[in-house]
Amino acid sequence: MKALVLAAGTGTRLRPVTHTGAKQLVPVANKPVLFYALEAIVETGITDVAIVVGPSAEDIKEAVGDGSAFGIDVTYICQATPLGLAHAVKISQDFLGDEDFLMYLGDNFVGGGVAHFTDEFRRSRPSAQILLTTVPDPSAFGVAELDLNGRVVSLEEKPVRPRSDLAVMGVYLFTSAIHEGIHEIKPSPRGELEITHAIQWLIEEGRDVRSTVTTDYWRDTGNVADMLEVNRHVLDRTGDSARVEGEVDADSTLIGAVRIEPGARVLGSRIEGPVVIGPGTVVTDSRIGPYTSIGGDCEITGSGISSSIVLHASTVRGVPSITASLIGRYTTVTSAPAGNHTHQLVLGDHTRVTLAG
Ligand code: TTP
Repeated sequence: MKALVLAAGTGTRLRPVTHTGAKQLVPVANKPVLFYALEAIVETGITDVAIVVGPSAEDIKEAVGDGSAFGIDVTYICQATPLGLAHAVKISQDFLGDEDFLMYLGDNFVGGGVAHFTDEFRRSRPSAQILLTTVPDPSAFGVAELDLNGRVVSLEEKPVRPRSDLAVMGVYLFTSAIHEGIHEIKPSPRGELEITHAIQWLIEEGRDVRSTVTTDYWRDTGNVADMLEVNRHVLDRTGDSARVEGEVDADSTLIGAVRIEPGARVLGSRIEGPVVIGPGTVVTDSRIGPYTSIGGDCEITGSGISSSIVLHASTVRGVPSITASLIGRYTTVTSAPAGNHTHQLVLGDHTRVTLAG
C-alpha cells in the first residue's frame, strides 16, 4: 500500500499566512501540521509516500526532504493549479500504479492516528473506504448518507440541505477502482474534480464503498479558529510537567506544562501552560499562555499573549492582551508611544486585524 498526501491548494482561508508559506507547514505546538500527518502514516507501516505540492513546493521539500527523517521514502508530485482532490489523484497515477493507497489531506489532523483504519481496509479491501465523523455544521463538508449496514449510499459535497450530520474526514482508502471513477467525472460548478463525485460514481456502479464512523479527535486546520483549536488540543497533551531546556530567571514563574526549548530565555515573565517557547526566543516582562505556541527566534517584551500561535522570528513589544491570534513569520506588533491613541498599520494582502475599541 502507498500513501498520497495532498499539500497543494491555495489556502485562501488562511491568508495572508499562505501568501508566503504553505498552510501545511504552520506549526502546531511548534511542529508543522504536515509532520503529524506523516507520523500518522509511518504508524500504518506504509513507507512509499508521495506528496502533491503546489506553489509552496520548495518550502515543503525543504522541510520534509526525502522523508528519511521520518523513515519513509517521499516522492514529490507537482500540481501547478489546484483543480481538486480527484485531480491530485489523477496526476499521481504513475506513482500509484494499480496499488491500494491511503489518501491524506496534508492540512488535516487526526488525533488517534489512522493505523486502525488502514488495518481494517487491508482486511476487507472494499473499493473505497472513508472516515466519517459527526459535526455540528455538515454543510461545510462532504456529507455521507449510510444504509443500516454502514454502507455509503450517497455522498454530497458541501450540501445546502445535508442528509446527515456525518462529515467526510480528509483521510480515504482506495483500491485502484477510484481511477475509473475519476476518469468518468466532470469538474464541479466550482471548477474542481471532486473526490466525492468519484466515490459517488463507485457507489452508483454498485461497488463496495464502506465507512468508519469515528469519534476520534479530528480537525481540518484550513482556518484560523481550527488551527488554534488543534494547537490547544496538542498542547493539552504535552504532559503535566515543565521541560526547561532554555534559561528561566529567578523573577519568572512557570505554571503547568511549559516547554522552553534550547536557547530560549524567559526573564521576569509569567508563563502559564500549556505553552511552548521555541529555540532562541527571548520573553521579557511578559505573560504567556495558556494554550500558546511561540516559534523560534522571537522577541516578546512587555506583552501578554494567550490562546495563540506566533511563528518564527516575530516581535511583540508592549502589547498587553493578544488572544486567539495567528501571527506570521518576521512580523512586528508593537504599541504606539505613550499619548498616541491612533493605530498605525502596515498589513499584507488579505490580512485581518481586530483592534480593541
Ligand atoms: P482545501 O482546504 O479544500 O483547499 P485549499 O487548500 O485550497 O484551501 P482554501 O479552501 O482555504 O482555499 O484542501 C484540502 C487539502 O488538499 C490541502 O492540504 C490542500 C490539498 N489540495 C491539493 O493538494 N490539491 C487541490 O487541488 C486541492 C483543492 C486541495
